[in-house]
Amino acid sequence: MKISIHDIEFSYNGTPVLEDITCTIEKGDFITLVGPNGSGKSTLIKCMNGILRPHKGTVLVNDQSLPSPDELAKKMAYVPQSENKKTSLSVFDTVLLGRKPYIHWKPSKHDLIITADILKSLHLGSLAMKEVNKLSGGQQQAVFIARALAQEPSILLLDEPTANLDIKHQIEVLDLLKSLSNQDITIVIALHDINMAIRYAGKIMMLKEGKIFAYGGKETVTEQHIESLYDIKVHIIRDMENIFIVPNGL
Ligand SMILES: Nc1ncnc2c1ncn2[C@@H]1O[C@H](COP(=O)(O)OP(=O)(O)OP(=O)(O)O)[C@@H](O)[C@H]1O
Ligand SMILES: [Mg+2]
Repeated sequence: MKISIHDIEFSYNGTPVLEDITCTIEKGDFITLVGPNGSGKSTLIKCMNGILRPHKGTVLVNDQSLPSPDELAKKMAYVPQSENKKTSLSVFDTVLLGRKPYIHWKPSKHDLIITADILKSLHLGSLAMKEVNKLSGGQQQAVFIARALAQEPSILLLDEPTANLDIKHQIEVLDLLKSLSNQDITIVIALHDINMAIRYAGKIMMLKEGKIFAYGGKETVTEQHIESLYDIKVHIIRDMENIFIVPNGL
């Protein structure tokens, strides 16, 4: 599904946080959203999924305004930056909650099979009966990603989903998301690790002080852009099609 954002503006208590945001995210795009702390990444994601309502402008999904929350949950899933992890539910039941938009009064066999398949694909099968609040931070993160996948969304919005993961699990999660985008699921993912963001991006969206500073393919990643975005000095190492940002002095 396509997301079209036209000229949105958002303020918290009168302080503008997003301004002049206009962009189109096509079906199956893999967008990495980068920018300094406080640049508005989480706020933009929350405007895309209707948690926050822009004061001006429109957010359309496949050219339609956002539907009711229940209908939206079948189309779009969201993994927030920080999640209340104090749930005593089991891993299985937490992931099954992702099926809620489809369940009438009790889960069907299909709901249980999807839940089990997703647990397997994220290597969570052996933890299925454990309480979520007794898992490591990274394992919990994987559970919340699994819950979002259980919604079978066409659009997946993830806010720093790899923040607590070791390098192996970061790659596992990002590879899984990439494979979903190859199946035409639209992925928008806020990432702090600029090198991971570049490596995985179909397109990279740079936010600075609440505005889109640059948006495009890997050609958008220039020393000048990165230096101006983060206010640091960097050099870029290019190796075949890969690009690595290295802060100067390292
Ligand atoms: N609930 C809130 N009430 C008031 N101001 C807020 C609120 N949430 C965020 N802000 C402010 O809005 C701005 C953008 O915040 P946002 O969380 O969108 O940034 P971010 O790019 O996601 O940052 P980070 O990389 O630290 O997660 C910041 O200046 C922040 O202080
Ligand atoms: Mg954020």
